[in-house]
Amino acid sequence: MDLRRDVALGARLAVVRAGGLALALSGDPVLRLLYRPWIDDPTRVQRRLREAAQPYASRSGVLVVATAALCREVVRDRRFLVRPRDGGSLGGSVEGGRDPLLEPVDLSFLGMDPPEHTRLRRLVGGFFTPARVDAYAPLVARLAERLADDAARRGSFDLVADVATPLPVAVIAEILGVPDVDAGAFARWGQAVGAGLGGVRSLRALHRLDGAVAELRGLLGDLLERRRHDPTDDLIGHLAAEDVDAHEAVSLAALLLLAGFETTSTLLTNAVAAMTDAREPWAQLAAHPDRAGDAVEEALRFDAPIQFTARTPHETVRLGERDVAPDTVVMAMLGAAGRDPEVHADPDVFDLDRPTKGEHLAFSGGIHYCLGAALARLEGRAALAALAERMPTLHRVPGAVRRRSLLLRSYQRLPVSV
Ligand code: HEM
Repeated sequence: MDLRRDVALGARLAVVRAGGLALALSGDPVLRLLYRPWIDDPTRVQRRLREAAQPYASRSGVLVVATAALCREVVRDRRFLVRPRDGGSLGGSVEGGRDPLLEPVDLSFLGMDPPEHTRLRRLVGGFFTPARVDAYAPLVARLAERLADDAARRGSFDLVADVATPLPVAVIAEILGVPDVDAGAFARWGQAVGAGLGGVRSLRALHRLDGAVAELRGLLGDLLERRRHDPTDDLIGHLAAEDVDAHEAVSLAALLLLAGFETTSTLLTNAVAAMTDAREPWAQLAAHPDRAGDAVEEALRFDAPIQFTARTPHETVRLGERDVAPDTVVMAMLGAAGRDPEVHADPDVFDLDRPTKGEHLAFSGGIHYCLGAALARLEGRAALAALAERMPTLHRVPGAVRRRSLLLRSYQRLPVSV
């Protein structure tokens, strides 16, 4: 790592951190979400944001929308893009390029606008169609049942490390065609990268992230090279056969790997935490494991794993009560949208019988609608059904650790016992 970059970044990190904390303490609701007590229960902050005139102008310079209607508008309206006019990062470019603090990982087409977005998304879209995902169901069920059996045998376990992470890691590794996956290493990389996705907050985190990304790129690059000589019909084999540029292909594979497991792991963990805390939903699911689909949808609404996304217009766009100037960052609070009482009655109650089932923005919308939504739903259903069937009295035990991230609302550890 370049020393000059470190010094420059270190100075900026200190400013960003101190600035963030000062703003949180002085009442900026967005930044409060990073700190106790709001990080444990963001509902009050979300409500305040929703009830403010929309869009809410945060002191951080970002416009925030937190109602379901405006969040939907931002992600669907094609005038809102993911890159500012100079092609740099949302919220700050470095010499017209990506800002490593704001955007420490190259997330391939997730961070691209058309036409590049369209081209790359099409290239891999075929692996995630509902029909294709149905074909993965037996594998996913087998993996979920094996993990749940092992966990039930142990009696007390960490839901994150023992069930919620290994399942999506194994599934996405299979789809990509990563052989003999070292689940431990993937989980470590994912944790490091996941922790950095919302912007890194220390030099140590940035180094860890750089290291993790380099290892991941190394492994995927080797694999791609091998597939060029030795074709396979998995996703990496497909990229090799299509003769995709190596850098582009590796970023794409990394996006799928990373987008595919931290998020799904978070869904499973948040779902179990919310349902066992409220007791009744978990008991309902244990009695009727076939209702796991309802549990997945309600968990996505109740605690969206990805709490926000961001866009910017290249021209002035009228949004709610404001004109949004070009290059202004607009944060769409997907998590707050799931709790919008205009859409969901008693939004802070976890209700398996909710009539508005599925009306959430946890998978975003528009052209960046989550490519893995069907797969995530399949994994969520399989894991929740397997756990509830075997462990009807599952409950938390002390020791839960939340991840301090604005982007991913998740746990680092969630100890539970049968
Ligand atoms: C519960 C689990 C998941 C959640 C909550 C989730 C959430 C999201 C969200 C919110 C976005 C859009 C971000 C934006 O609008 O800027 C997104 C995009 C994406 N997701 Fe997921 N995701 C999940 C699982 C998966 C899985 C299993 C995969 C599989 C490979 C995946 C792959 C992707 C990809 C490739 C994109 C980029 C789409 C694009 O830019 O066109 N996700 N996801």
